[in-house]
Order: sequence, then C-alpha cells, then structure tokens
Amino acid sequence: MADFDLIVIGAGPGGYVAAIRAAQLGLKTACVESREMLGGTCLNVGCIPSKALLHASELYEEAHSGVLAKFGVNFKGVSLDLDQMHAEKAKAVGELTGGIEFLFKKNKVEWLKGQAAFASANSVVVAGKTYTADKIMIATGSSVTPLPGVDVDQKVIVDSTGALALPKVPKHMVVIGGGVIGLELGSVWRRLGAEVTVVEYLDQILPGMDAEVRKESAKIFKKQGFAIRTGTKVTGATVKGGKATLTVEPAAGPSTGSGQTGFEDIEADCVLVSIGRRPNTDGLALDKAGVALNARGQIEVGHDFQTSVPGIYAIGDVTPGPMLAHKAEDEGIAAAEFCAGLTGIVNHDVIPGVVYTMPEIADVGITEEEAKAKGIDIKVGKFPMMANSRAKTNRDTDGFVKVIADAKTDRVLGVHIIASLAGTMIAEAALAMEFGATSEDIAYTCHAHPTHAEALKEAAMAVQGKPIHM
Ligand code: FAD
Ligand code: NAI
Repeated sequence: MADFDLIVIGAGPGGYVAAIRAAQLGLKTACVESREMLGGTCLNVGCIPSKALLHASELYEEAHSGVLAKFGVNFKGVSLDLDQMHAEKAKAVGELTGGIEFLFKKNKVEWLKGQAAFASANSVVVAGKTYTADKIMIATGSSVTPLPGVDVDQKVIVDSTGALALPKVPKHMVVIGGGVIGLELGSVWRRLGAEVTVVEYLDQILPGMDAEVRKESAKIFKKQGFAIRTGTKVTGATVKGGKATLTVEPAAGPSTGSGQTGFEDIEADCVLVSIGRRPNTDGLALDKAGVALNARGQIEVGHDFQTSVPGIYAIGDVTPGPMLAHKAEDEGIAAAEFCAGLTGIVNHDVIPGVVYTMPEIADVGITEEEAKAKGIDIKVGKFPMMANSRAKTNRDTDGFVKVIADAKTDRVLGVHIIASLAGTMIAEAALAMEFGATSEDIAYTCHAHPTHAEALKEAAMAVQGKPIHM
C-alpha cells in the first residue's frame, strides 16, 4: 500500500487548494513545500504583499499629494514610515500563510517540509526520505525569468521579490518590462516618491491585452508621471557605488541612418527586472517519472490535468495558460476532483485578469484583435467612465468599459475594463460569460444606482447602439 493516495508538490494557490480539496474528498493527502511558509509565490512574494503595498502606497499618495483637498480633506505634515508599511504588509502575509497551516491541520493534510524530487512515477524523495503515492500532482509554480547581462543582486538590481522589500524609496527606478509586475510595483514606488521609467521591448505596454486598453492605459500612466519607453531593449547593466547604468537601444536594433547609433545609457538607483516568469521544474527529476516538458519548459496536461504519465497531474503556473493565482486554484480543485474519481471543470475561456494599478485594468475573454484574427464577426459596445455617475461623483473618471459580442448570436465574448473598480466589476462579466449571456442579457439586468457597475450595463446597451447616458 502506498503512503498516501495523493502527494501534491508545491503549496502555492494551486497546490494547497488541491491538497485541501483532495482531503475533503477523503483522499489521504500530503503536500510538499520547501519554503518556510505555505502559500507559494502568491501569498509570500506575489499577490498578497504586492496588494498590501499597492493599498498602502495609494493611501500615502492620497494623503500626501493634496488630491483630497478638493473633497475638503486636508492633511498637514504627512510623512512616510516605510518600515511600518513593510511591517503591516508582513502581518497580512503572516496571517494568510498561517491560515493555510491551520487549514492543513483542520483537513488533515500532511505538510512534508523540503524539496521534492521524483524517485519514480509514484514516489518522491523529500529531505532524504522516500514517500509513495497512488497519484502525484506537480504544482511547483514559476520563478522570475532572468535577463542576460542584467544580474539581480536584490540591492540595486532587483526582481519582484526584492522590489517588495526595498528599504528606502529609490530616487530613480527603471522597470524593465511594461507588464503586470512592472506597472504594479512601478506604481507602488512612484506613489512613494520615486521617478519611474518603464522600458518595454514591444511597441505597447501590457502585451496580450486589448489594443485600446493598452493605448489608453499608457496615456493614463504617463499622466501619473511614469516615463514609458516602448520599443526599447536593455542590452546590459553595470553597478557601481549603489547605482546602475543600463545600456538601452531600440528594440529593432540601433539606427544606422544620419549618424545615430541609437545606443543610450540610463542611470538608476534601482532597476526592477520584470520580463516574465518561467515554470519551476529544475531539481524535480522529472526524467525519473517520465514526464516531458514542452518547448517553453511547461508541463502539458490533458482535460483531466493528467500529464503524459498516468497518475501524474500538473496544475498552475508550471502548465500552459495565464500565470494567475485563481487559474491555479481552480485547476487545483478540478484536478483534485479528478484524482478522487469525480469530474472537475475549469473553463479556460473565462479566466479574468486584473492589473491592480489605479485605475485598475481588467479583462475576461477575447480581445477585438483576437476576434478579428479568428475571423469572428463581432459587435463592440463602449462606455466611458466619464459618463458614469458614481465615477463622476467620486472624481475617478479615467477609463472605459468595452463589451465584445458575437455579431450573430450576441453572446458576450470578451469584456475589457479600465476603471478604479475594474477588478471588482470584471467578476460580473465573468459570471455572465460563464452562463453564456448575451449583451442584451446584461443590458436588461437591473444594476444598482449609482455604481461603477452600471458602466458595464451601458457598454452592453452600446452593443445594440442604445446606451442612455452617452
Ligand atoms: P506558486 O505560487 O509559485 O507555488 C509553487 C510552490 O511550490 C512554491 O511555494 C515553491 O516553493 C514550491 N516548490 C517548487 N518546487 C518545489 C519542489 N521541488 N519541492 C517542494 N516545493 C516546491 N496572480 C494573481 O492572480 N493575482 C495577483 O494579484 C498576482 N500578483 C502577483 C504579484 C507578483 C509580484 C508575482 C510574482 C506574481 C503574482 N501573481 C498574481 C501570480 C501568482 O502568484 C501565480 O500565478 C501563482 O502563485 C501560481 O500558483 P502556483 O500554485 O502554480 O505556484
Ligand atoms: P509579463 O509577461 O506580464 O510582462 C513582461 C513584459 O516584459 C512584457 O511586456 C514583455 O514584452 C516585456 N519584456 C520581455 N523581455 C523584455 C526585455 N528584454 N526588455 C524589455 N521588456 C521586455 O510578466 P511580469 O510582469 O514579469 O509578470 C509575470 C507573471 O506574473 C505574469 O504572467 C502575470 O500573469 C503574473 N502576475 C499577475 C499579476 C496580477 O494578476 N495582477 C500581478 C503580477 C504578476
């Protein structure tokens, strides 16, 4: 008899959720985690600490910048206590990671502490001891993609983990990569007083998002004070005396015309490398289990989250798809259900994404460009937050809601939102899409007034060309 019905490797949002659900379903379950705390990237060095700093830095900027004076709220002598900000962030992380340890105990999930490596297709070695299981689930997540020539020292050149723990506000921070991490953590340090330059390889920030959203959000970020250098690549970095000098050039290569080389140096006292993340598979000894990787280093799975080796499952960031905590969690639940002989379901067409800047940027489903590339005939409805009464009342009118519906069936295929509450608003769009809603269904659903959510209803009305407040 095996030691366990299921061993889950990794206790991030994918792995810990899978382990709890498997235990709830009666499987004798263990979860291996090498970090000192449970919760993976998300709780320890990702979603949670970044949102804690985003919230705190927003409060600081509001109090410090004088922006609240127009509401009759005046502050004097506002100062930043960065150590206290970090302490409150650590408290939130500690409470949440501790909460998972409690849930493991409550559900009788055994935490095997240490690094797991496969010994065979149904056994793993952890801290020198071999454990067998009927099924093994790989939920090892992802880590920062390194940029050759720009070595992270976590002092001057940092990755997201370093950028969540800077001991002082940099004067000039250069963010390499205008994606989600760069814009969120760039926002934190800009709000706390840093001058922030984003260097993005592509000609627009936020790749993968709807083109109008990318264009509008770049405009908003520039208005907030970000310097954004698109179509630019960093070719090297040197660090001296606590400062970095980055060499940049046009992404297309240096210009040879009119004597311009296109090379340039940028000085910074902090550089954040945020050019993407890559799956964690090193040290797992996957060859001993017979699990292969695809060309992108990910583990491919079937609809039941089983790899090419029967009994070995994989979920979350180590598999293809968006690297998001809620995608990992939902896959964890579904995969655990398959392990227990049930049928688990994840609708990969309806996974929302949120960038937690101010305003927030959120989407679900396909973009206008994707629809066109796939030859889908669409109708588009847009509604500006400027015309939404609650946004107007709150004086947070940046952004819009865009609904993309199938031209023939009216079924909603995608929703894209820039708004202060976009992350909350997108949940309604995801639910509607999950239920196969048409734009008319949303348009005829009564929305409370005055709320930001009314902008989604109006954008849905705009699909038919009949918004009221525009
Ligand atoms: P992970 O959370 O990476 O967990 C994997 C765990 O496995 C790790 O704890 C690791 O130590 C452990 N492990 C790896 N190999 C082994 C081994 N051999 N043996 C034992 N243990 C092992 N996503 C969102 O949806 N919303 C956000 O707001 C958000 N913010 C983010 C902010 C930042 C700065 C970062 C870096 C990421 C953010 N993400 C966010 C992404 C999110 O963190 C990941 O998508 C999510 O954590 C993936 O979950 P996972 O379970 O697949 O892997
Ligand atoms: P990303 O993929 O979002 O963005 C990376 C950016 O770097 C892209 O715009 C890319 O074009 C650019 N880039 C790549 N190479 C470059 C180079 N050499 N020079 C300049 N630019 C370059 O990756 P990021 O921001 O590192 O985040 C990693 C993952 O973490 C994402 O997949 C995201 O899903 C997840 N995450 C999610 C969050 C959320 O849901 N709110 C928050 C933070 C991270």
